[in-house]
Amino acid sequence: MNKNGEVSASVIKRLPRYYRFLGELMKQKVERISSRELASLMKLTASQIRQDLNCFGGFGQQGYGYNVSDLHEQIGKILGVDKKYNTILIGAGNLGRAIASHINFETRGCQLIGIFDANKNVAGKVVAQTTVRHIDELEFFCRTYKPEVAVLCIPKASTQAVAELLVSLGVKAFWNFSHYDLSIDYEGIVVENVHLGDSLLTLTYGVTHTLGNDDGANNK
Ligand code: NAI
Repeated sequence: MNKNGEVSASVIKRLPRYYRFLGELMKQKVERISSRELASLMKLTASQIRQDLNCFGGFGQQGYGYNVSDLHEQIGKILGVDKKYNTILIGAGNLGRAIASHINFETRGCQLIGIFDANKNVAGKVVAQTTVRHIDELEFFCRTYKPEVAVLCIPKASTQAVAELLVSLGVKAFWNFSHYDLSIDYEGIVVENVHLGDSLLTLTYGVTHTLGNDDGANNK
């Protein structure tokens, strides 16, 4: 918790990982787990896990540990996976098609109800069992179906303008893949910027510093 009593961003960032590990344990029919066992699986410390889960009121029982499916369900509720946020995706290019096809929106609290593209040759194509609509239909669609979440897979140059239009049409949250750090200065709007390249740089930092390759030996 931070000093305002809010759950800190770093705890929230760890929740999806708890949820994923607990889901795997459920598949293996594990019914209960101690914080020490969970910590060892997740390469965290038991006290870190207890501290994180205490932000939401605990869930564990002294001497019993955690009931895996209960904890999975509770964390799922905290994450909002039991919701069904109407979601649209803008930009049905290489990335947009991959995301629409490979991300299971429904198990993550979202329902993909529309895909849009500015290219007339892309509109009409079917992606992830959804017919891509031309961006000209966006306004009517939003007024009719009221999407709350938008996934942005469009070039940097058009991102801010498209996002502002979507906010005016009632969209409240952006999963933004465009190479543009979206900043929306409206209250109540949530933005998650995703840069896969940043994740790769975290890896190269690790290779360079942790594995001691910072002498440039591998760069000869
Ligand atoms: P792409 O060129 O294959 O697809 C972009 C699509 O967006 C095209 O179909 C285009 O017609 C459409 N589009 C452009 N402006 C639009 C608008 N205003 N409204 C609706 N549709 C519009 O590009 P790709 O490879 O799919 O990448 C999309 C964006 O994502 C690029 O800007 C790229 O740099 C970025 N990207 C980000 C990554 C990340 O980790 N965040 C990873 C890979 C790409």
